[in-house]
Amino acid sequence: MLGVAGGIAAYKAVEVLRGLAESGHDVTVVPTDAALKFVGEPTWSALSGKPVASDVWSNISDVPHVRLGQTADVVVIAPATADLLARATHGVANDLLTNTLLTARCPIVMAPAMHTEMWVHPATQANVAQLRARGIIVLEPASGRLTGADTGPGRLPDPTAIVDAVKDVLRRKPTNDLAGLKIVISAGGTHEALDPVRYLGNRSSGKQGVELARTAVSRGAHVTLVAAHLHVEPPAGVELVRVSSAQDLYEAMCEHTGDVVVMAAAVADFKPHTEAGKKIKKEHLDGEQVSMELTTTVDVLASLVQRRSGSSPLIVGFAAETADHHDHLLELGQSKLARKGCDLLVVNEVGTQEVFGSHENSVVILGADGLSVQIDRSSKAQVADALWDLVAPRVS
Ligand code: CTP
Repeated sequence: MLGVAGGIAAYKAVEVLRGLAESGHDVTVVPTDAALKFVGEPTWSALSGKPVASDVWSNISDVPHVRLGQTADVVVIAPATADLLARATHGVANDLLTNTLLTARCPIVMAPAMHTEMWVHPATQANVAQLRARGIIVLEPASGRLTGADTGPGRLPDPTAIVDAVKDVLRRKPTNDLAGLKIVISAGGTHEALDPVRYLGNRSSGKQGVELARTAVSRGAHVTLVAAHLHVEPPAGVELVRVSSAQDLYEAMCEHTGDVVVMAAAVADFKPHTEAGKKIKKEHLDGEQVSMELTTTVDVLASLVQRRSGSSPLIVGFAAETADHHDHLLELGQSKLARKGCDLLVVNEVGTQEVFGSHENSVVILGADGLSVQIDRSSKAQVADALWDLVAPRVS
């Protein structure tokens, strides 16, 4: 069921409806009266192939205010306005959408959209906290241009990202086992500047880190995604912190702490010793052979482990290894786990299979407590879920 509340972003919900319908889902749209002022009933009805009602007085014999909630596999509300969040928090049932929210026993995903002032208002923030505590997935709004010339957090997340978040909730048995947890995930590859136009980078796409963030959100966590350079869109519903270099990433990871920290970023191990303020010109280079002096960067993972007091946060590292055979991979993983001192290490073999940019991955997850779990080639979303299955009992 797609609920649409009355905000200007209602027009973007048309794309959410199309995305869900094109993926084969049977969608019933329930707009509020205010939503119909932005996008009319014929649009919702034509695209969903179903009649559309906003009040509880249509098709009474069908008892829609109870049936819709009881039979839905998932309810998604996009946009969720400040008013809708407030009514949902207090159990107000004064139209078909809010009645449905009270009868729904399936996962509920809300994608808020409103002006920044309304989003950061203590009333809205308190409502969001209560809804999250009840297990409702309230995605973080995106930041950017709002209705007028102003910018800030409050934009509806990208419709395709909302569709992906809903698909993720539908893909597996609903679980809210990460609710109440703050999780900080780094993803993507860092760029180490050589001059204003050149950098040293790596082949990481950031897909695995993005899937970790997406799945953690749909399991109820509050996720901060510290994103170095990504080749994929960040997921809906995360607090996004953009960084570029290893040093930026280190500073962001120190600033944003959580109950769980996952270092999925491909952090450069070395950077140019000096960054030229101006583009290095060819004619200044001496001869054909050019060499560059490099210095090592901060080891973010090892530093985070050293900085923590006691066993919190739980820290997960990743390892990219090229091994000759499986036992060799395990040996390399065990020695990296000991060297970094983290709690869990997700070991990737990057030599023989295509990992960078691929949608699939096979990994071994090692634990400082002796854990060793093999995950055969699966989607990066499944690998992410397998990791959360191991993390959840360790932090609850
Ligand atoms: N990592 C980090 N800071 C660095 C390098 C790596 O925090 N400067 C983190 C990565 O995010 C990952 C883990 O350390 O979680 C292992 O990264 P990997 O590239 O496999 O290992 P390295 O530490 O770089 O060691 P080596 O390249 O020698 O295998």
